[in-house]
Amino acid sequence: MEVWPPLLVVIFTLYVVSPCCGLEAVAKNVTVAQLLPISSYHGGLATYNAKNFGAEGNGTNDDTKALMAAWKAACGAYGTVTLLIPPGTYYIGPTKFHGPCKASAITFLLQGTLKAATDLRRFGNDWIEFGWVKDLTVTGQNNAIINGQGAASWPFNKCPFQKDCKVLPTSVLFVNNQNTVVRDITSVNSKFFHIALLQSKNMKLINIQINAPENSPNTDGIHIERSTGVVISDTHISTGDDCISIGQGSDNIDIARVHCGPGHGMSVGSLGRYVDEGDVTRVHVRNMTFVGTMNGVRIKTWENSPTKSLAAHMLFENMIMKDVQNPIIIDQKYCPYYDCEHKHVSGVTLKDITFKNIKGTSSTPVAVRLRCGVPCQGVVLQDVDLKYMGEGGSSSKCENAMATYVGYQHPEPCA
Ligand SMILES: *[C@@H]1O[C@H](CO)[C@@H](O)[C@H](O)[C@H]1NC(C)=O
Ligand SMILES: *[C@@H]1O[C@H](CO)[C@@H](O)[C@H](O)[C@H]1NC(C)=O
Ligand SMILES: *[C@@H]1O[C@H](CO)[C@@H](O)[C@H](O)[C@H]1NC(C)=O
Repeated sequence: MEVWPPLLVVIFTLYVVSPCCGLEAVAKNVTVAQLLPISSYHGGLATYNAKNFGAEGNGTNDDTKALMAAWKAACGAYGTVTLLIPPGTYYIGPTKFHGPCKASAITFLLQGTLKAATDLRRFGNDWIEFGWVKDLTVTGQNNAIINGQGAASWPFNKCPFQKDCKVLPTSVLFVNNQNTVVRDITSVNSKFFHIALLQSKNMKLINIQINAPENSPNTDGIHIERSTGVVISDTHISTGDDCISIGQGSDNIDIARVHCGPGHGMSVGSLGRYVDEGDVTRVHVRNMTFVGTMNGVRIKTWENSPTKSLAAHMLFENMIMKDVQNPIIIDQKYCPYYDCEHKHVSGVTLKDITFKNIKGTSSTPVAVRLRCGVPCQGVVLQDVDLKYMGEGGSSSKCENAMATYVGYQHPEPCA
């Protein structure tokens, strides 16, 4: 996104102080069947069916409390359990699925649609929150959809042009989770980000479909922050902002076979805006396609960073670009506001960054832009073939890049 307000940092602090648990507040008329470890069997596992907890799934009834009650029962059971949300449309406000759980593993199985309330006064910084859970699988069947109903709230989003703005709720936030798999789910029309991973470890996202209009503000597909061991694969993201963004404090990120477009493309950053940001290290991104995006692979760091940090050990390989405005771009002078001071170079050091086998077309003449603050260290371009169909062909622009070129190069490397 063009603006990265410290929203997730703030939420995290709040929850550490008070980690739990809206669930306690839910009064429940639990039937005997629900009190047994098993209310039914699904694939041989104990299953808690949201409908047994009062969820209507009829598109208008507010099912927030019912889903949280069903989660509470599943989370509190021993063994391997499933929370089943059968076919239907579940209209819900802010909903928290929090641990820690007694269950050794939980599957959250969505067979219908979760549809967000539209009254923004109900929301904090996110809509559906999975937090403090270990060994969670969130999965869909029969076209499972998470519908943020964002269109009604996009006009209230001032963040694209106002520095201190109130952020809208992210559709699905995973915070302080460990060993989580998210797969076979569609997210549409988030109010703000679609999916965010915060302070989480060992997360796998597979076969996710993300859709929002090209002009929807800050609808980033998947944002990663202060998380380690993240795999994203076989995913399709069409949205109004970044496809995938990797924020500060992230390590060991592996992204493969993701389609982006339309949207702003894949981004590391923006980094270096706030005090004491963590490093971003060991990022492997491969086999992505970008169609009609603003950027292909971008690393962006703010000027005037208050503290120093490192962004290092990154490999971007086997990328196909089709009509991408900036297929390869490092921008260490990132500042989207008119009042930027241009006083100091970015405090983020870029080190050991390779772009390898990047092919296709650029929709602007400058296909490779390497704008480093303090000189970049160890930027390598290997086998790059990016054509511009307009007059003059494609070109490169560099500042303090000190790049090394290996193999085929089109455009011509910077002098
Ligand atoms: C619980 O449900 C039963 C059967 O639907 C009903 O008769 C009873 O009044 C309910 N109790 C409470 C506390 O809601
Ligand atoms: C959905 O269920 C609620 C509660 O039972 C009911 O009041 C409402 O009329 C239902 N809506 C539809 C569209 O069936
Ligand atoms: C990625 O693409 C390359 C060719 O571009 C192919 O050889 C390789 O098997 C692919 N790898 C993955 C992990 O998809």
